[in-house]
This record gives sequence, C-alpha cells and structure tokens, in this order.
Amino acid sequence: MTYGERRRRRNDGKGKYIALLLPLCLLLIFAIGLIVKQKDKEQSDLQNPPQSTQTSDVHTEPLQTSTTQSVGEPAETHTVPASTTPIEPPTDGNGVAANAESGHIYLRVNHEKQVELPLDFGAASEYSISDDNVAYVAQDGMLMGLQKGSCTLTVKGSGKTLEIPVTVREMVIEDGCTYVDGILVANKTYSLPREYDPGLLPVTEEAFKKLVADAKAQGLHIENSSDYRTYDFQKECYDSIVNGYSKEYADSISARPGHSEHQTGYTIDCNSIDNTFAETAEGKWLAKNCWKYGFIIRYPADKVDLTGYAYESWHIRYVGVEHAKEIMEQGICLEEYLDIDSAYQD
Ligand code: DAL
Ligand code: ZN
Repeated sequence: MTYGERRRRRNDGKGKYIALLLPLCLLLIFAIGLIVKQKDKEQSDLQNPPQSTQTSDVHTEPLQTSTTQSVGEPAETHTVPASTTPIEPPTDGNGVAANAESGHIYLRVNHEKQVELPLDFGAASEYSISDDNVAYVAQDGMLMGLQKGSCTLTVKGSGKTLEIPVTVREMVIEDGCTYVDGILVANKTYSLPREYDPGLLPVTEEAFKKLVADAKAQGLHIENSSDYRTYDFQKECYDSIVNGYSKEYADSISARPGHSEHQTGYTIDCNSIDNTFAETAEGKWLAKNCWKYGFIIRYPADKVDLTGYAYESWHIRYVGVEHAKEIMEQGICLEEYLDIDSAYQD
C-alpha cells in the first residue's frame, strides 16, 4: 500500500467516527436541555405555589381554644426588628402588651400600656402566635390582645427559637368598679364607688370558715379580727392615722376611702394586726396554706413597691383557689398577677 492509500484509509476511518459522534453529541445536548427546563419549573413552583398550598397556615384551621402553653402550628410569621421594637398602644382599643417580664407577656384588652419586647435576637426575628384569636403579631411587630386567653408567641432569629407564654387579660369597668379577669380590684390606682356596699361576701365567709376549721384540726387558732368596712368607716380609719401621725405614714399602711380592699367584701384581717403574727405558728400556717381556700397574703413583705403598702401578714384577700394557687406559688402579688399598678394620682 502506498503512502497515499494509507492516508486515504485513515481519513475514511476518521469520517466514520465523526458520523457516529455527531448524533451522540446532539442527544447529550437535548438531554441537558430537558434537565435544565425541569429545574426551572421546580424553582418556579416553589416561588409561586398553587392557591391551595399557599393558604395552609393556621388561619384556615379550626380555632385553638385551649390555654395550654404548648405551641400549635405557627401562624403566619413576620420579620421585624426584635430587641429595639417598641410595642405601641393600639389606636383601636384592642389592648396591648403590658408586661413582658420573666419571659411571660401579659396583654390586656380594654387597657393601654406600652412595653418593649425584651428580646435580644439580633437585627431581625420572625414572630408567630399559636392562637391569633387571643393575640396577634401585627405586621410592624406590635403584639395585640384580642380576647381573654392564653397562647404562645414563638420568636425565631439568629439560629435561636424562643417560646414565650402570652396571657391576655380582660379589664372591665362596671358601675365604677374595676375587674381584671373577673377579679375586683381595689388599690391605690383603682377605687370603688362610695355606694359600693356588699358587706362581707358569703364566698369569703364560707372559705374562711373552712380555713379556720382546718387550722383548728392542726391545733391552731385563727380568728377574724376585722373584715368588711364601708367607705365611711374606712375614711374614719384613714383620717385617724393621718391626724395621729402624717398623711405619708397613713398612705403606707392604710387605704384612702374608696381604695380599701376591706370595702370589696373579699378581705379579712386575721388575729393580731401586726407582724408579730407572721412569726406565730398560725401566721406561718396561714402564709403556707391560705391559697387552698382561695386566699392570698395581699401585701407581702417583698412587694411593698408594687402594692403600695407595708407588709401585712394578717390581711388575706379572697380571689378563688385557681388564682390564689398561681399567685402564691409564683410568689407574686396581685398587682403583678393582673399586671396593674397601685399608685395615687397625687
Ligand atoms: N391596711 C389596708 C391597706 C387597708 O387599709 O385597706
Ligand atoms: Zn386588712
């Protein structure tokens, strides 16, 4: 075979390879094209889900009415600045976060007060609420109370998740009396009308009878030293201290007329009306057990700044067992529990 023939043969061989490779390359390009197109479709589906999946958050589900602190399926979330976001009072009278201490946020319906969420989650967090019938997180991060109840606020940010119990309380003013979650309030901020005159209420009397009987069974003597006081009688009590000492001193130990819990019909003073009572077996038993009968020690020693009154180990207030248990177990006073203050205007 000549050099020319060998070269022709080699070229013929190359031609066959090219004829085979060309369709293979075309097939490969077509397959890659198909894969890219499929990926694009998947991406587009994710960004624009069909209507049925877009609305699958809790707004479309049955309402959660339980007051447990477990977190339900989070509702829609909002990204808002966290630690620096003030919670502004609403303008529609729906209430607002009033206390965000101790990892528990209390909101009040029908009463306004401003707080900040004490959260340190960096620049932005996602907030969601387990039951947006009770409260909801508005677009701007404002937490709004809607009705009495409990739910959980879930905050996500900086790789952390925080679940904060939220309690929405209801404040109602009826015939001049203020009730928070049904509890009649009388303190330096909230007063009772002069004509409010229920006497010692049967519920208080009955609960106290049981308390006295159970104490007696333990060999302890607890007696009623003072209970219901009218507006006018409270005026006499208060005025006599003002006249005997000073207004300032009177305000630290005695309520002005209309501001005394004794006028509510839910209060009893036990045994000796001084704090030697706290050191007696009866005083100790009362502090430990009064909640079982629905009473609280209304003016604890470590809550003077909140209640506005000096320690009164002898003064018990009926609020019902459920509330009393929580208050005494948590070691808080009624003002903290209901998130109210106690201060005269002047
Ligand atoms: N000692 C309480 C504060 C009252 O006067 O009602
Ligand atoms: Zn008292």
